[in-house]
Amino acid sequence: MPVHYVTYKGIKFPPAYNSEHSLSFAHNEFLVRDDDVFNVTYPKSGTVWMTEILSLIRSRGHPSWSQTILNSDRMPWFSTRLGLEAALSYPSPRLLTCHLPRHIFPKSFSHSTAKVIYTLRDPRDVVVSYYYFSKMSNPIKPWQDLTHAPAAFCLPSVPHGSWFEHVQGWMEMKDQENFFFITYEELKQDLQGSVRRICQFLGQDLDDAAVSSVVRNASFSAMRENPMCSSVLLPADIMDQTKGQFLRKGICGDWRNHFTVTQSETFDRIYQDRMQGLNMAFPWD
Ligand code: PPS
Repeated sequence: MPVHYVTYKGIKFPPAYNSEHSLSFAHNEFLVRDDDVFNVTYPKSGTVWMTEILSLIRSRGHPSWSQTILNSDRMPWFSTRLGLEAALSYPSPRLLTCHLPRHIFPKSFSHSTAKVIYTLRDPRDVVVSYYYFSKMSNPIKPWQDLTHAPAAFCLPSVPHGSWFEHVQGWMEMKDQENFFFITYEELKQDLQGSVRRICQFLGQDLDDAAVSSVVRNASFSAMRENPMCSSVLLPADIMDQTKGQFLRKGICGDWRNHFTVTQSETFDRIYQDRMQGLNMAFPWD
């Protein structure tokens, strides 16, 4: 069945949880509070992982909040229909999530001291993760097979907009003190060190035991066992659990098992061309 995406400012969003109103409200009217902390990502880049990390930091490593409350209630998706309501009634200090590109992020953010944590991931692994996710997620049907996925991913018409523009838009903030970015690959390589850096950015002073608990409870295996973040509780019309697992593999470099040599070379060329103006190096470069 064809998916009729919601379009806002030329970008397509999955219709099940987005509406033009929720996106427009998030962009134009949503009032950012100075003590808000935003978890911002392009899809499939480690969003729920960062949600877990931030929730656990907020509860100083105690896992009970993360184990009893759904991740979408702990960190509402404020630009979606359901998440907007949750975000508006959330007592301060709020933890909030979105996939919004910088240019349609709440306008009121510019006048605030709210903090943004931006997680990005090797776009080739984003493609693979997105491909498997689209098989089980009914609101998203981007690719029927992997043959055309890498090329389709590079088109501006991809749902949630172009990865390249998303990253470039957010990286314009890289020198601002209320902005912190980290890669999925860094989280994988050194979760403990990454948690400490995030704590420092947030001004949260956690002792060693608390940091260890964050690391333990935000591990791939712990998250898979936690129904509050593994997506198993989502209704079947949103996520068909018979077609895969949301927490699928959780590794770096899975694209090597999926891209052909030609796909890889073509993607590299597009990547070099689109990213050359950024002058930044990432772990996958
Ligand atoms: S979404 O739908 O956009 O919110 O998806 P998102 O959460 O951004 O990305 C899902 C991928 O992140 C992986 N993931 C993890 N990897 C390692 N460790 C932990 N703890 C972890 N939590 C989530 C998840 O498995 C998806 O990646 P793939 O490659 O598909 O496994």
